[in-house]
Amino acid sequence: MVKLIGCKKTKTAVFISGTGSNLKSLIKFSKTKKSPISIDLIISNNSKAKGLKHGKINKIKKKVFNFNKKNKIENQILSVLKEYEIKMICLAGFMKILSKNFIGKFKGKILNIHPSLLPKYKGLNTHQRVLNNNEKYSGCTVHFVNSKLDSGKIILQKKVKISKNETKNSLGKKVLALEHKLYRKAILKVFNR
Ligand code: GAR
Repeated sequence: MVKLIGCKKTKTAVFISGTGSNLKSLIKFSKTKKSPISIDLIISNNSKAKGLKHGKINKIKKKVFNFNKKNKIENQILSVLKEYEIKMICLAGFMKILSKNFIGKFKGKILNIHPSLLPKYKGLNTHQRVLNNNEKYSGCTVHFVNSKLDSGKIILQKKVKISKNETKNSLGKKVLALEHKLYRKAILKVFNR
């Protein structure tokens, strides 16, 4: 469990690669009284990530890193996280895999959201694979990040029924709406709230 010092919110960085709807939802949550976290930094591997606009709108510092030389970049990110006194990381549609070394530096402090009922459907293209297998249910999972892809300890999951004429897009939308709610709940759970 993450401990809060006094009643101050825990400084958190959100890592994104794309649209950033989870980021937007987390920012909204972070501004509520009950939120144990504040969002102080946005990190992306993609300078064209649409979600970066939420940094500007909300006056949150954003930094983009080119992940071609991963080890070097991760060290730079660690320095920035230190500079901003970041104590927790939320991955929200971040499509790069962090190294064991990086994760070790934030052990038990990195959360990820994944659009499936883990341990099923790790990795990419989840919704299509779920439909191809004629699953009756799908959903989303918030979990701690460890060195194996989408494999850390599960914090919370939410299940959703797949409709008769479900498409990859309709399922994606349905699951994304659940993700926004689940991430908040998972953060509250991590902080024992
Ligand atoms: C979300 O569905 C998230 O679960 C998924 O990417 C989407 C990002 O949407 N993440 C993964 O697939 C990570 N393995 P967003 O940018 O609108 O938050």
